[in-house]
Amino acid sequence: RRVAIMYGGKADEHSISCISAASVLRALDEERFEPVLIGITKQGVWIVDGEDPRAWALDSGLPEVKQVEGSRPVVLDFGQGCDGFYARNADGTLESLGHIDVVFPVLHGPNGEDGTLQGLLEMLNVPYVGCGVLASATCMDKHYTKVLLAAAGINVAKGITLDARSLNAADEFVSNGADLAAQVAEAGLEYPLFVKPSRAGSSFGVTKVEQAADATAQAAALSAAVFEASKHDWRVLIEQGVDAREIECAVLRPVSGEPARASLPGEIVLDHRAEGDDQFYDFDSKYMDASASHVEVPAHIAPELLDRVRETAIRAFNAVDATGPSRVDSFVTADGQIIVNEINTMPGFTSISMYPKAWEATGLPYGELITKLIEGALQ
Ligand code: DAL
Ligand code: MG
Repeated sequence: RRVAIMYGGKADEHSISCISAASVLRALDEERFEPVLIGITKQGVWIVDGEDPRAWALDSGLPEVKQVEGSRPVVLDFGQGCDGFYARNADGTLESLGHIDVVFPVLHGPNGEDGTLQGLLEMLNVPYVGCGVLASATCMDKHYTKVLLAAAGINVAKGITLDARSLNAADEFVSNGADLAAQVAEAGLEYPLFVKPSRAGSSFGVTKVEQAADATAQAAALSAAVFEASKHDWRVLIEQGVDAREIECAVLRPVSGEPARASLPGEIVLDHRAEGDDQFYDFDSKYMDASASHVEVPAHIAPELLDRVRETAIRAFNAVDATGPSRVDSFVTADGQIIVNEINTMPGFTSISMYPKAWEATGLPYGELITKLIEGALQ
């Protein structure tokens, strides 16, 4: 079977996608599956014959898909389905990439994980790994994820959603700070707050806002945070921080129509968090500083709570109509409340990522997980 592995992309999470794809490739059972590597540059150009991603890893810097000497752009022929992938040669002629049985879009963020690529592949009539259009689009957007989860009776973080389209320049945000503080007060949100773009990932654009000493400082902190988030998406969430442990659960429905399965939940442990430290699980602690955090599977919580986290993860998975690999991220409070924070429909697949680690701890090794995902898409 020939599997097109797609990676990179226009989203902020370009490099994380490259590293996820490298891990997937290293784990791919090449006796069963022949990979066809399709990189997407930050400009959105699909290419073959670029740099081999296999060597990319977290400790070798942030990789990037680039058009290099000999790389060729990919052209799609919609009438041809799985035979509709071509490379354009330097002289303009098209060369078939051969029959592609299935696409594995190892892409995070907008244009890869948000239903747009999934829609394109549906139009092409090509099977792909991962959730369909609705679940992908919903889960890319933290606001709409919360709407669907709340409708299913699942707890979500308290917060408000802003439309920042009318606020373009940094100074407009600053003059708006007092109004933001008023909206926060009116909604009854308590500090610290987390301000985040609705459609982004890997903590891009997320700021923790603490209670400030006075109203002017509070307004300034809020407006700066909203401005930062709005660089990634005009839809911005302000949420009340939850004093809780971060517990994540990997969900999988290997065969379409069969019930979803949840892994043992894992915990995100921040290693240097001191009392009063405002560190959270941001981009640097996720990927850049190996000593900043680690994942522990299973999470050291009561067995009863572990079961409830798994059950909630499956309910959340079904509530958004997910079908493919999904990681359900929750906050678990000291009194046993489970608040679902978000669902990732193409979770990180790097060597340190929770999704593969959680399955490994549940008895499904990385390589077998990849085989299952590809075979599930082929059914
Ligand atoms: N968005 C990143 C890749 C994750 O959820 O793991
Ligand atoms: Mg995410």
